[in-house]
Amino acid sequence: MVKIAPSILSADFTRLGEEIDSIREGNADWLHFDVMDGLFVPNLSVGIPVLESVRKYTDMFLDVHLMIREPVRYVERFCQAGADLVCIHVEADTEESTRAALRKVRSLGKKSGLALKPGTAWDAALPFIEDTDLILVMTVEPGFGGQKFMSEMLPKLGFLRQTLDEFGLECLLEVDGGVNPLTASLAAAAGAQVLVAGSDVFKAQDRKERIAQLRGEKQ
Ligand code: DX5
Ligand code: ZN
Repeated sequence: MVKIAPSILSADFTRLGEEIDSIREGNADWLHFDVMDGLFVPNLSVGIPVLESVRKYTDMFLDVHLMIREPVRYVERFCQAGADLVCIHVEADTEESTRAALRKVRSLGKKSGLALKPGTAWDAALPFIEDTDLILVMTVEPGFGGQKFMSEMLPKLGFLRQTLDEFGLECLLEVDGGVNPLTASLAAAAGAQVLVAGSDVFKAQDRKERIAQLRGEKQ
């Protein structure tokens, strides 16, 4: 069954604890935490102090998505702040530094992830496949919630699914951006195992029902 990871980017930050409770009670699997630096993406969001507070508040699995340049500078601090998984972008630094960042995360006992922007080919992940526990396929341009799912990313997911299966790798496939019940079913059919959903979950009246719909349990 696919995992659902609501993104707190769409939460009401003045009531973050209650927002986290609502998705936990809604049986969300992971909590997705978007970090932006205003350089890698044209937006800013939250960072280390907020992650530390969230870590103290909940034992949910914290899936931290770093949309920052040269993430190798910060991965250790995000691990110390309580991330369970730290995902960096393949476009954010050199191959050498990207590999060093992924290995650093694993050496600290956390899961490593590698994200691909929509314009990045699927095989950009191949040099890192032994060093990563998750590949994140962005289905919108990173930086903002509430955008439309790019269905032209489905073949990219398919190629990655096929490659991971051929090599017998445990690496998870995650999708982020524009996920709703319809696009969730397309992404899952193409091989995604973790679905990030921000606005679709947080704007829903009944979040539990919505999370079940995203998982394909309900119509
Ligand atoms: C976008 C972020 C996403 C965002 C998704 O850069 O990485 O995690 O919160 O939001 P929705 O689900 O609204 O597209
Ligand atoms: Zn994200």
